[in-house]
Amino acid sequence: MNEYLLNEITVLNNELVNTQRMLVKQNIEITRLNHQLQLTNADLIQFTYIVSHDLKEPLRMVNSFMELLKNKHGHTIGEKGQMYINLALDGGKRMQKMIDDLLELSRIGRDNSVKELTDLNEVVKIVKENILKLIEETKAEIILGTTLPVIPVYRSDMIRLIQNLLSNAIKFRKKDTIPVIYIAAKEEKDIWVFSIEDNGIGIDKEYFEKIFDIFTRLHTKESYEGSGIGLAICKKLVQYHGGNIWIESTKGKGTTFYFTIQKQ
Ligand SMILES: Nc1ncnc2c1ncn2[C@@H]1O[C@H](COP(=O)(O)OP(=O)(O)OP(=O)(O)O)[C@@H](O)[C@H]1O
Ligand SMILES: [Mg+2]
Repeated sequence: MNEYLLNEITVLNNELVNTQRMLVKQNIEITRLNHQLQLTNADLIQFTYIVSHDLKEPLRMVNSFMELLKNKHGHTIGEKGQMYINLALDGGKRMQKMIDDLLELSRIGRDNSVKELTDLNEVVKIVKENILKLIEETKAEIILGTTLPVIPVYRSDMIRLIQNLLSNAIKFRKKDTIPVIYIAAKEEKDIWVFSIEDNGIGIDKEYFEKIFDIFTRLHTKESYEGSGIGLAICKKLVQYHGGNIWIESTKGKGTTFYFTIQKQ
């Protein structure tokens, strides 16, 4: 081999060794940051749990004494006074729901449940029974576009996930339009991709990611009720299964929620 080539190879080899060293260093840094992130995340979840748990008791006191005030002295404080009490009670109830939802969010992954081989067609059936009243009132049609798979998942998490998405698909329906919802699953190499498509009011592109944040709602409580935590719970449930959740939507036409579940 001529000397020039030998030199070139040595230079390249040295560069490769240096790059490898740098990669090892970066890898160690990433592992360290990842560990730190996990600790911060655990702290945050613990904080959410404690705060929401401890807030429940004083709020329960406020609500029950307001109720007592209304029942025992309501007749003596006049119409305006009663209206104020009702507004306070209404606010108290909403706050209670938000705290319960926060607790639910912080509990994901805390229980000792194990993955079970679960028939998702069965899960949809259970969800339909759970929200039967809403389905009947709105005459919603829920259609399985494909047969759903039987896969190892946390069963109760799947029920919660699909129930949140189906309830939203019905709740955010267009006025004077019967909600029609298609559920389907597509198998890919390492994942299953699920879709829940509705013909509801749709969502503006600028909110495609924001809607998964805690307490994000795009409407007033008068037009659609809810505390805005359902999708944050969905996102956490999907991530807990090693998957992603996202949407496609056209305002005024409808929305499709997609989520993936890792096969392994
Ligand atoms: N299928 C949908 N079609 C149109 N808008 C939707 C749909 N699903 C969610 N949204 C929008 O995203 C927001 C967040 O949804 P999310 O489920 O987190 O909250 P919510 O339904 O308002 O309250 P909660 O689920 O806590 O009772 C909703 O308030 C709504 O504006
Ligand atoms: Mg919801």
